[in-house]
Amino acid sequence: MEEFVVTPWEVRGKINYDKLVKNFGTKYIDESLLQKIKKLTGDLHFLLRRKIFYSHRDLDKLLNDYERGIPFYLYTGRGPSGHVHLGHLIPWILTKWLQDRFNVKLLFQITDDEKFLFKKTLSLEDALNYAYDNILDIIALGFDHRKTEIFIDTEYIKSLYKIALKVAKHLTYSTVKAAFGFDSSYNIGAIFFTAIQSAPAFIEYERNKRLINCLIPCAIDQDPHFRLTRDVAKVLKYPKPCLIHSKFFPSLSGLDKMSSSEEVSCIYVTDDEELVRKKIWKAVTGGRGTVKEQREKGGIPKNCSIFMYYYYLFEPDDNKLREIENKCKNGELLCGDCKEDLILRINKFLKEHRKKREKAKDLIDKYLVRD
Ligand code: TRP
Repeated sequence: MEEFVVTPWEVRGKINYDKLVKNFGTKYIDESLLQKIKKLTGDLHFLLRRKIFYSHRDLDKLLNDYERGIPFYLYTGRGPSGHVHLGHLIPWILTKWLQDRFNVKLLFQITDDEKFLFKKTLSLEDALNYAYDNILDIIALGFDHRKTEIFIDTEYIKSLYKIALKVAKHLTYSTVKAAFGFDSSYNIGAIFFTAIQSAPAFIEYERNKRLINCLIPCAIDQDPHFRLTRDVAKVLKYPKPCLIHSKFFPSLSGLDKMSSSEEVSCIYVTDDEELVRKKIWKAVTGGRGTVKEQREKGGIPKNCSIFMYYYYLFEPDDNKLREIENKCKNGELLCGDCKEDLILRINKFLKEHRKKREKAKDLIDKYLVRD
């Protein structure tokens, strides 16, 4: 039996995404739900079309409500434990698309408190520094500042605290332990933290005092938090937040998730052109041992981290993606060809991103809310 672990703090092994749906008790985003989204938005983002966002809780209900005139807002977040890598962008890219299509408000939580509590060697000061660093990457993606509030937990705690308390009162130690696999050696801040991550899911309802739903785009590892949030919502008579879950951006070293703890397995937005080149050339591909063999038998795109980069981010056009896939399979494309092409695409993207990131330094005040 294959072993894998997916919790908000650890993702490891060969992930079975179907098993996660089963174990977490979520639902697949199926064809009829995709059609429903398309009906409301006019088209489907490739992250939805390609089932990279593949699972949900109550998205169908939220969309039905929306059609009946009940509004919703978006809520997502980032734990600032280091620089941002390309994998982090996936949920944020879909979040921006949803914001644009539905013209809705977005709350963006930066959990410097969480990363301080869960990372042994990270100081609170460094977590805050990363928070400010990461916010530039978020702003660079182009969220509408009139409809986006970004906040850092340690600077916004007054606004979150009352709701967090109400949530905390209905979460027992044994519930939290079971949900996250904590044992008695965990610090007491860690045990409380899920209440802080729950607060933004209710804050708009508290502010408006009228029915408003909350949609949380996130990677599926965050689901255990929000399962608790949803359970507590019932007790507190808040609307239950709805979720859409993404898979993880695959690692360059052939493991499942692009992990910050493994330096060569992922590309940071801060990597320069040479470093990108180096990492891509080291990447695990679906290629054969020799050129001759590859020409004869073709490569195996589904096992190729380079192809996954196209699939997840760098080739949004389905026809062009299929062309790459076919040319690989019939031996026309060699791994070196793909690598050189991908290096160009990534570096082009990062160059643009860094420009926008520089500009973001002057825009922070338009987005950031503090107590
Ligand atoms: N815990 C998340 C992380 O480690 C950060 C986060 C806070 C978040 N609120 C969220 C992520 C809501 C997704 C949705 O990255």
